[in-house]
Amino acid sequence: MLLAIPDLLSGAEAADIRAALEAADWVDGGVTAGAQSGGVKHNRQLPEGSALARALGERVLDALARSPLFLSAALPLKTFPPLFNRYGPGESFGLHVDNAIRAVPGTPVRLRTDLSATLFLSEPDSYEGGELLIEDSYGAQAVKLPAGHMILYPAKSLHRVETVTSGTRLASFFWLQSMVRDDGERALLFDLDQSIQALAASQGLQHPEVVRLTGVYHNLVRRFADS
Ligand code: NI
Repeated sequence: MLLAIPDLLSGAEAADIRAALEAADWVDGGVTAGAQSGGVKHNRQLPEGSALARALGERVLDALARSPLFLSAALPLKTFPPLFNRYGPGESFGLHVDNAIRAVPGTPVRLRTDLSATLFLSEPDSYEGGELLIEDSYGAQAVKLPAGHMILYPAKSLHRVETVTSGTRLASFFWLQSMVRDDGERALLFDLDQSIQALAASQGLQHPEVVRLTGVYHNLVRRFADS
């Protein structure tokens, strides 16, 4: 399931992070790439674990924790500290798949990457190219969202970032391990949860069938989830 999370950050929050990134020191993006993806990755990143990456990453994590849509779709168990990248003219990231297991540097934590996320920080009209192309069962989907919006997609997907031909594309990206490993089961839970929310809005939270369906949702989570 590909899902856009609109307005994870407000335009002002995204602009504030962008201003901090514009003054930052960047390193070659190859530092977090594997052997295959390293050969096709041509961009720059904030040094992992730098004070700025940690501070900005905390702001992204706070925004995720405040987003009911993200929590419903991802059912997050462990989230990798957000990374930040920058593509200038001529830079791109060729077709690759993200590593299945990621160790969080400086900690004993490892996570299985069930979901990948890209939070767009530059306004789409400020750069040319730079679309995120994600292959799914319906073909390649081109994603280029307003600043502050995020795309969530299965980490098993092949994907690439088109060459930026002018301007600068700033983004945050990270991975997470979901409590529900299987993408199909997670998508079913998401659909059910969204439908219950809509029913509750029209019928009231205490409507007997809303209560019953809420029970079904939680009992399916018990069946599918690891925590
Ligand atoms: Ni990737």
